[in-house]
Amino acid sequence: MPDPSSAPLTVAITGASGALGQALLRRFHGRGAQLIALCHGRTPLQLDGPDGQPIPLHQVHWQVGEEAVLEPLLEQVDVLVINHGINVHGDCSAEATGSSLEVNALSAWRLLELFAVVAQRREGRRRAEVWVNTSEAEIQPAVSPLYEISKRLLGQLLSLRAPELAQALRLRRLVLGPFRSALNPVGVMGADWVAGEILRQAEWNCSLIIVTPNPLTYLLMPLATLGRWAYVGLLRRS
Ligand SMILES: NC(=O)c1ccc[n+]([C@@H]2O[C@H](COP(=O)([O-])OP(=O)(O)OC[C@H]3O[C@@H](n4cnc5c(N)ncnc54)[C@H](OP(=O)(O)O)[C@@H]3O)[C@@H](O)[C@H]2O)c1
Repeated sequence: MPDPSSAPLTVAITGASGALGQALLRRFHGRGAQLIALCHGRTPLQLDGPDGQPIPLHQVHWQVGEEAVLEPLLEQVDVLVINHGINVHGDCSAEATGSSLEVNALSAWRLLELFAVVAQRREGRRRAEVWVNTSEAEIQPAVSPLYEISKRLLGQLLSLRAPELAQALRLRRLVLGPFRSALNPVGVMGADWVAGEILRQAEWNCSLIIVTPNPLTYLLMPLATLGRWAYVGLLRRS
């Protein structure tokens, strides 16, 4: 994580009004960050800190497919957390397929590429970071075919593009197990606890941040990323 002891971090989070988005905003506020809440919904987001005082945040409306509009805003951002997502559960219609791919995978990938372009222009500032919330569904069943497909696509795209993107950005992959939210009302973990663990591992300087009760993920996810890195590295043309 960039050194928080110098200037305050500016952190932007997509899916900010969701359970994990709000929990991350609170945790970053606790570390003195300036907050930008990127929301596709129009409902005003108001969060209170532990002292009961409102947490200052800049709420910005955005839409999937219109990521380019965010370019001027991203100039100010030190840490972009790509966190928005949907789960259509058993819906396998053409519409559900399109929205799952667009929201969970393609818009996240476009934001990632856009932020890398913006980060390349930074001079005299801390290295920009992007945290991509792919989910344990990258490698484990999630009882939701389109959720798995779209999150796996995002994870694969991140692995494919990581060597080039890492020239401009510090990349961190968030691989999370089930936590309670609108997306997963029966998750076993609490979003606030998950957010705390994410920031703890970022402070340990981890690039692969895993928070899950499933021990297999701690074994399989590093192997999967290593395998992809080797495969893409062998086939990549300069
Ligand atoms: N819950 C779990 O068990 C679990 C496990 C692993 C990973 N994850 C991942 O964690 C992230 C956060 O999920 P959550 O559990 O906190 O769910 P959540 O409470 O439902 O939050 C997801 C947020 O994504 C944004 N969003 C929804 N539809 C969107 C759309 N069409 N376009 C753009 N943004 C949209 C919304 O926030 P705004 O209105 O503010 O944009 C929504 O509140 C997701 O990427 C999810 O896949 C969740």
